Amino acid sequence: MITYVGTANPGFAPYAMEELRRRIRGTKVSGLASGETFSFTSGTMEPAELLKDLRRKEPIFLRHMFPIEAEVAISDDADLVANALKDYALTLGERVKGLKVAIQVRKSQDSPFPFTSAEGRDEIVPVIEQLGGQFVPREADWIVSVYATRKQLFLGCSEPRNNLSDWPGGAVRFRRDEGLISRAAFKLLEAEKAFKLPLSKFTNVLDLGAAPGGWTSVLLERGLKVTAVDPAEMDASIVMHPRLRHLRKNAADVSFAPGSFDLLVCDMSWDPYHTCKVVSSLSAALSAGGSGIITLKLMYRKPFQSIQDLTEAYAEHFEIRQVKQLFHNREEVTMWVIRKP
Ligand SMILES: C[S@@+](CC[C@H](N)C(=O)[O-])C[C@H]1O[C@@H](n2cnc3c(N)ncnc32)[C@H](O)[C@@H]1O
Repeated sequence: MITYVGTANPGFAPYAMEELRRRIRGTKVSGLASGETFSFTSGTMEPAELLKDLRRKEPIFLRHMFPIEAEVAISDDADLVANALKDYALTLGERVKGLKVAIQVRKSQDSPFPFTSAEGRDEIVPVIEQLGGQFVPREADWIVSVYATRKQLFLGCSEPRNNLSDWPGGAVRFRRDEGLISRAAFKLLEAEKAFKLPLSKFTNVLDLGAAPGGWTSVLLERGLKVTAVDPAEMDASIVMHPRLRHLRKNAADVSFAPGSFDLLVCDMSWDPYHTCKVVSSLSAALSAGGSGIITLKLMYRKPFQSIQDLTEAYAEHFEIRQVKQLFHNREEVTMWVIRKP
C-alpha cells in the first residue's frame, strides 16, 4: 500500500477526499493542512492500477498528488532539515541517473520549514547531479516532491503524469500578467491544457458572458472568429477587433442559425441551472461534434449534488467529456462537453 499527498483548491480538500473515498476501495484519508492538502492511501487497490484509473478519469477536485516515500519529523533547524532533504535524495540512486529531474518544494502556512521553496530545492540539486541526474525546472522525467507541514516533512519521487499535474501542487502559472484584460483568461488557458483541447483548431466561437473579454482575447489570439454575448461592455483593447462581434444582450435573448459555431464557451456569472437552460437552448447553434467549455458555479455549497444535477441536465444535448476544478477556478468547476449529433 502506498500513501500519497493530495492537494485541492483552498476549502475543497474535503470534497477531494470524499471523491477518493468513493473511488478507492479501502482508502484511508486524513487532512494535513487547512482544507487544501491531505493524505490518502491506495487502499486495497494495486498502486499501478490506481494511478492508471486516476489518469483515465481524473477526479474533479484532486488537483495534484505524489507518493510519500519518506516521512520525517520537521524542525526549524536548517542543518537538520537540509540533511533530511539530502538523505532522501541520496536514496534515489540509479533511478535518476542520466534523466531529467525537477524538484518541487512546498510548505503549509503553519510549517516551521526553515527554507523557501528555492532554497529547499537548492539543497537537493547537488545530490541529484552527484547521482548523474540533470536538474531541470520543467519537462522532467521525474519530479522530486517535498511537502512540509506543521509537524512533518513528506518526500517522494514520481513520473509527472502520476502527479496529475507537473506544476507544484497543481498550481499552474501563466506568464501573462501584463496587459491582461481579466484574470478569468487564465481559466480558459488552463482548460485548454487540462482538456488537451487546442483552441486554435476551432473556427467560429460563441462566447456567452464574455465581458470584459479575457476569454475573448485568448480566442482572438488563437485566430478564431468570436461572437461575444454580454450586456456589459467589452474592454476597449478588443472592442474594434475585426474578428469580434459583440451582442450587448442577455444570453437568454439571442438565437443563431443551426451549426453556426464549432465551439461554445460560457463563463456567465449566473445561476448555473439558468445557465444550463440557456446553453441547452442554444445547443443547436453548435455543430454536431463541436465542443463546449462551460464554467459551472457551485452556488449552493453542495458540489457533488450540483455537479450531478447539472451534468445530467447538460447530457440531454451534450456528451460530458470532463469536469475539473482548475487551479484558477474559485467556487466553481469547468466542464468540457461535445455536442451530440
Ligand atoms: C466572470 S464574468 C466573465 C468574464 C469573462 N469570461 C472574461 O474572461 O473576461 C461574467 C459575465 O457574465 C455576464 N452575464 C451574467 N449573466 C448573463 C446573461 N444572462 N447573459 C449574458 N451575460 C451574462 C456578466 O455581465 C459578466 O460580464
